[in-house]
Amino acid sequence: MSASISAFILTFSTLCGSRVVSGVLSPPTNVSLTSYNMNLVLRWDPPDQPASGLLYTTEYSSILGYNVGCVNISTLECDLTNLKDSISEYGKYTGRVRVQLGTESSAWVESNQIALDRDTVIGAPDVSLFSNGATIEASIKDPVFRISSLRDVYNLATYNITYWKDGQKKKNRSISNVQQNRVVLSDLDPWTTYCVQVQISTEKHPNPNPTHSVPSAVVCESTTIEEEAPWVAAVVTFVVMAMAVAVVVVAVVYRKRISHFLCPKDALPEHFKEYLLAHPNYLDMRNSHPPKEIFDPVSIIADGSILEEGLPLEAAGTSCSQQPDTT
Ligand SMILES: *[C@@H]1O[C@H](CO)[C@@H](O)[C@H](O)[C@H]1NC(C)=O
Ligand SMILES: *[C@@H]1O[C@H](CO)[C@@H](O)[C@H](O)[C@H]1NC(C)=O
Ligand SMILES: *[C@@H]1O[C@H](CO)[C@@H](O)[C@H](O)[C@H]1NC(C)=O
Ligand SMILES: *[C@@H]1O[C@H](CO)[C@@H](O)[C@H](O)[C@H]1NC(C)=O
Repeated sequence: MSASISAFILTFSTLCGSRVVSGVLSPPTNVSLTSYNMNLVLRWDPPDQPASGLLYTTEYSSILGYNVGCVNISTLECDLTNLKDSISEYGKYTGRVRVQLGTESSAWVESNQIALDRDTVIGAPDVSLFSNGATIEASIKDPVFRISSLRDVYNLATYNITYWKDGQKKKNRSISNVQQNRVVLSDLDPWTTYCVQVQISTEKHPNPNPTHSVPSAVVCESTTIEEEAPWVAAVVTFVVMAMAVAVVVVAVVYRKRISHFLCPKDALPEHFKEYLLAHPNYLDMRNSHPPKEIFDPVSIIADGSILEEGLPLEAAGTSCSQQPDTT
């Protein structure tokens, strides 16, 4: 009895839920059209009274009226980017969606309107760092657009490069309006880790926030030793060269005097030569009267009463400690 009542209630509520009884399907909710990197995607939530077997059909408008989007799909989003009538990067679009169940359809629900170049969210650029002495080079790659490319849509796109010493993000410095995709950060301390983050600005949003363009991931790299400025090397080279030239010139000009000094022509007195030949090791003369070394004899007498005869010191110690056991 109670089982049939609950079965009846279940059937009734299911029928009410799908609104098949009334013949009117409730429409999808929260319909929104979004764009990321120049795609065009319509999203929605199920009707307030969801039922099983619901299908959705979407359309999107351009100047010429509505184009067919996704038909009879069961998912809650439709990618409108690459359908038969492809979208334009400067187009304005509105989407709409309705629910279908069997032969019945709900009313259409319209989305917000989007101007692709103004409203698309520009994805994060890809940043790589290369350390070179006390400088760091940042190499930036633009996000890939689904239609067209960043530089084609925004001729005046620039990078805002923010960098800081690792752990001191509050004391960041930034370079804005950078157009090249390779930038050398040069006013850095040696042997220090720096972190870099890049965000893209466009003419549509000169001061972007993350809903316009996503900042890149933070990447960090360390500088190494301070590189010598090129002029320092030049000066050092010049000084070394000048000194070498001076030495050569002096050597040439005073050639005679120098050779005279190194190889004197004046002969030693004859008797001095004879003496040297007669006493080849005359240098030992200086050592011929060594100073008298004074020393006192020291005698070391071992204490024979403790050391057992023939035993080294260590062994003797061991035998001493074991003495109580043996006696
Ligand atoms: C509406 O949809 C957006 C994106 O699809 C979502 O972020 C938001 O939470 C939804 N709002 C409600 C009230 O469900
Ligand atoms: C979509 O579903 C409806 C109803 O089930 C059907 O009449 C229609 O032919 C389907 N359209 C396509 C393109 O499958
Ligand atoms: C840079 O520093 C300021 C405060 O000085 C802070 O508000 C801002 O968020 C910092 N920027 C980054 C990218 O960390
Ligand atoms: C660049 O980024 C810095 C730090 O986040 C910010 O203070 C500055 O306003 C930005 N400049 C532009 C032109 O967006």
